[in-house]
Amino acid sequence: MSLSVRALAARSCFDVVDQGMSLSEVLPKAQALLDNPLDKALLQEICFGVMRYLPQLEAVCSQLMAKPLIKQLRPLQFLLYVGIYQLKFMRIPDHAAISETVEAARELKGQSLTKLINGVLRNVQRQQELFNFEAAPAAVKFNHPGWLITALQQAYPEQWQAILDANQQKAPLWLRVNVSKISATDYAAALTRAGIEYSRPLADLPAAIKLAQAQDVTSLPGYSDGWFSVQDAAAQYAATLLDVQNGQQILDACCAPGGKTCHILELAPDASVTALDKDARRLMRVHDNLARLGLTAKVIAADASEPTTWWQGQLFDRILLDVPCSATGVIRRHPDIRWLRKKADIPALAELQQRILQQCWALLAPGGSLLYATCSVLPQENSMQIEQFLQQKSDASLVALPHQPDNANYGWQILPGERDVDGFFYARLVKQVR
Ligand SMILES: C[S@@+](CC[C@H](N)C(=O)[O-])C[C@H]1O[C@@H](n2cnc3c(N)ncnc32)[C@H](O)[C@@H]1O
Repeated sequence: MSLSVRALAARSCFDVVDQGMSLSEVLPKAQALLDNPLDKALLQEICFGVMRYLPQLEAVCSQLMAKPLIKQLRPLQFLLYVGIYQLKFMRIPDHAAISETVEAARELKGQSLTKLINGVLRNVQRQQELFNFEAAPAAVKFNHPGWLITALQQAYPEQWQAILDANQQKAPLWLRVNVSKISATDYAAALTRAGIEYSRPLADLPAAIKLAQAQDVTSLPGYSDGWFSVQDAAAQYAATLLDVQNGQQILDACCAPGGKTCHILELAPDASVTALDKDARRLMRVHDNLARLGLTAKVIAADASEPTTWWQGQLFDRILLDVPCSATGVIRRHPDIRWLRKKADIPALAELQQRILQQCWALLAPGGSLLYATCSVLPQENSMQIEQFLQQKSDASLVALPHQPDNANYGWQILPGERDVDGFFYARLVKQVR
């Protein structure tokens, strides 16, 4: 039997929160089971919403039910959250939200629970005060795990609440014009002709275009001709800050799915780019992206922290290390990250990041530059990594980036929502010539 949008949403949220799968993995599979594009979009909106407001949805349920449903019925517990989210946060008429959700319970083998689900949803409809969380614990009030709130409070005593607020917003759709094929001005004109609203708000990133509304990118002008890529503007700073030039030997050591590799080649088509990633499956997307944009790189599946297994002996002029990280800067774009990431992941990630940094440093030519990047907002993965590295490497010096407030910060920390871009960190290190 095919499942409805609400049943698929409940199952997807269950897969993420209880089974630890990522929404980027679960959602496309669930969407593939739906024919109508509007249903696919509705499914995404509901899943994203449940991830954004999970603690409050749980709290409302616990006010209305003596105890949560038993383990075997967990998908139906998530169906309750799906129902409550629609009533509170969406413009679906209440009667439709309730009846569709109750119907979905039958699809999820919850025939015996339809009365209970109907009752809970009717109570939510009647009792608006259930959503008063002013005096609730921080995790519920701000819809984030407690450990992350504490970490942000410690790192950003002034801005932590603005960061949490930004994480609750929907992220805009940013494009990066492929300037090796079309100028940003000409592409903007093509968008205007197609009646698509956009802005180009970042003077320091002229090829970055922000669309006024999210839409199916395959129908935008020049998709199949490789005129643009989808990439948040924060990520578009990487290739620019690395200062890539034709003729250089460039290593992109953690490259998949290849957004930054392609950008490097768009800016320096005659550079020799080695694109490495440990995950062979993710490298397939690098090949696809290079092919669509008409670019060429040497793509290798290998571990950046063990160069002896893949390095051919030629030093690199530029190295980009877009290292694996907590992704705490991109929660607005991937709202499930806050539930998937655990406090204990951070030291392990930090250790891997430092190892990759130390090992790849040896591959950099004297006078060359290395750009360290993460989409994290946690100092352990960012400024503290650079501080530790500089203490150990006497041939490394930190070059202040144009936006970096001062060198004491060990890099440029972009906070989520600033300039309407994702949270990101960049530090540029130069190897001294001795
Ligand atoms: C933040 S993502 C890179 C995004 C990519 N730079 C882009 O712009 O499209 C981090 C990547 O590091 C890869 N990775 C993790 N550990 C690695 C290692 N030891 N060596 C090389 N790549 C690794 C992951 O597979 C993942 O694709």
